[in-house]
Amino acid sequence: MKYVFGNWKMYLDEKESTVLAEKLVQTIQVPKDFTCVVFPSTLAFARVRDIVASTHIRVGSQNVSWAPRGAYTGATSAQIFSDSGASHALVGHSERRYIFGETDEAARKKLEACRDAGIVPVVCIGETSEDRENGKAEYRVKKQILKLFENVPLSDVSIIVAYEPVWAIGTGTPCDHAEAARMIELIKNEIKVYYTNPVPVLYGGSVDEQTVSDFMSHSVIDGVLVGSASTDAIKFAHIIEHSVF
Ligand code: PGA
Repeated sequence: MKYVFGNWKMYLDEKESTVLAEKLVQTIQVPKDFTCVVFPSTLAFARVRDIVASTHIRVGSQNVSWAPRGAYTGATSAQIFSDSGASHALVGHSERRYIFGETDEAARKKLEACRDAGIVPVVCIGETSEDRENGKAEYRVKKQILKLFENVPLSDVSIIVAYEPVWAIGTGTPCDHAEAARMIELIKNEIKVYYTNPVPVLYGGSVDEQTVSDFMSHSVIDGVLVGSASTDAIKFAHIIEHSVF
């Protein structure tokens, strides 16, 4: 199975999300053995879900709250997203971590909430440019994996990990594809310490229709998590086409 995911972030309002979803339905053919998920804003989630319902495109949530229900102003839980048809949820995206102050502990609770709600968590990890300059890229991802997975009972739960170096996100400068493959190999080996099932690991960070095939040509890279390029239907369609080998 290969994975092409589109994270629409907060780029689009409800109407624009609807227009994009309608275009995707007309433009995209999800290839056999591919999982294609789009992650609209919470406000647009239900409309996008209804528009893509008859296709193989699935919808996920960009973020979840770990508490299932109750007095949590402004939150939407993994359980509520699951009940509304979300198949996947991003967990620990670097924008949540570095802009909104989300800790490893919070990301771990969200991972557990997804497990309990039956949503596939797409756990995002990756080093900062400072980590990389200081030779700490490997250390950082290993530490994040430890904090997310140690002592979390996950047997038989599907999990996806996205390797997203923070310095490559939204910068137009992706990680070198051979280096991404090396880091993903290391990540897969590290996850085995905590979790025996094979975990697909995607690359994310400035992937577009020009660069996607470089990443997908490495068999160790199971897919891509695409941000800004996924908000253009034609580009996203090309990304899917160029992912097939
Ligand atoms: P980008 O975002 O493709 O715009 O760099 C990727 C992501 O944040 O998942």
